[in-house]
Amino acid sequence: MLTAARNEMLTRVGPGTPMGELLRRYWQPVAGAGEFDANPIKPIRLLGEDLVLYRDLRGRYGLVDRHCPHRRADMSYGWVEDNGIRCSYHGWLVNETGRCLEQPYEDTANPKPSKAGCDTKAYPVKECAGLLFAYLGPLPAPELPVWEPFTWVNGFREIVLADIPCNWFQCQENSIDPVHFEWMHDNWGSRLRGGDANAAPKHLKLKFEEFDHGFIYKRVREGQSEQDRYWTVGRVALWPNGFYLGSHFEWRVPVDDENTLSVAWFFMRVPKGREPYVQERVPTWVSPIKDENGRWISSHVINQDIVAWVGQGRIADRTKENLRSSDIGVTMMRNRFFQEMDAVAAGKEPAGVIRSANAAACIALPNMAREFNTEGVALADFDKDPILRQRLKEFRHHYGQPAAVRRAFVEAMGISGA
Ligand code: FES
Ligand SMILES: [Fe+2]
Repeated sequence: MLTAARNEMLTRVGPGTPMGELLRRYWQPVAGAGEFDANPIKPIRLLGEDLVLYRDLRGRYGLVDRHCPHRRADMSYGWVEDNGIRCSYHGWLVNETGRCLEQPYEDTANPKPSKAGCDTKAYPVKECAGLLFAYLGPLPAPELPVWEPFTWVNGFREIVLADIPCNWFQCQENSIDPVHFEWMHDNWGSRLRGGDANAAPKHLKLKFEEFDHGFIYKRVREGQSEQDRYWTVGRVALWPNGFYLGSHFEWRVPVDDENTLSVAWFFMRVPKGREPYVQERVPTWVSPIKDENGRWISSHVINQDIVAWVGQGRIADRTKENLRSSDIGVTMMRNRFFQEMDAVAAGKEPAGVIRSANAAACIALPNMAREFNTEGVALADFDKDPILRQRLKEFRHHYGQPAAVRRAFVEAMGISGA
């Protein structure tokens, strides 16, 4: 249980709030680069700030204030040119550094040597593994961590976005919550398919550890032992707002205090013998979370998680909870956030910020699936692993995979589309 004041600290993300200041020290994934092929301008809201993300005609990404520096028209209704984005109201042009380059009427009728004071807010953007990352903190920006899976080759990658109407922190608490797999995904999943028993293997033992890039949780369930990779390797709650499960990442990116952008990045190694496989463009798609009756969609794994997150309310009231031993990891994570908020307030660099390009270039994480993802297995052997077999049949993580993405996946894997 937390006091209301501590809950506010964990959940408020706007500029000047302790958590807002902490999260601004890290690069945040905000979009898929492929989204900008069809439309080079995307309005986004991030950490309570209204912004526009764009790709100019020279291929440079910019993230600038949604409001024009002139009289605050909406820049997302402008257009991109060689050198930036132009407002459709009176044609002012700004670039990715926030510089105001052109003010067409003034430039023609009343030219002034300087446009000083007319610059707009702008944040750095980097592309990696098909994702666009933004950094909203003090400069110089730290290195963008290149997680090892981003360097893997011969795989089909896809990015799935979902707009979640609740605070980010309750989503991130789900990244350090092993027991929910038994209930939410196994037992509830079985009920949704018509089952009538709580037959999933029970969790017998849990362990939570901290490491350089977050937390690792380990578990033993009925039928498993301490020799199992779920205990020897475990899974990663990636600091500060990610989740890493071996072949995919999820991030819970704060839009504002009451909304979260779920960003998930998936990798599926092509079967041995299908190399080389080169993916021209990583597809990005948006997963719907409500059905036609206004109920949350519950058929897919991450959609089930979303039911839990939004069910806790727009901002979970942690003054009313009852934490038990299954929640030790949740408490560890909260305490670490409180410590790191204090560190930032004291002018220190918080945990997990990387300043060395070498250190950031390829960061290995505990990974139960490295061999499969790097070496691959023959298609005939996919059948031996229930998770791989299922993965070939359908995309179970998020509802609504577009047919074109499925077709590209089928083609990459060299399987029939059925
Ligand atoms: S408001 Fe954008 S150019 Fe005038
Ligand atoms: Fe889950």
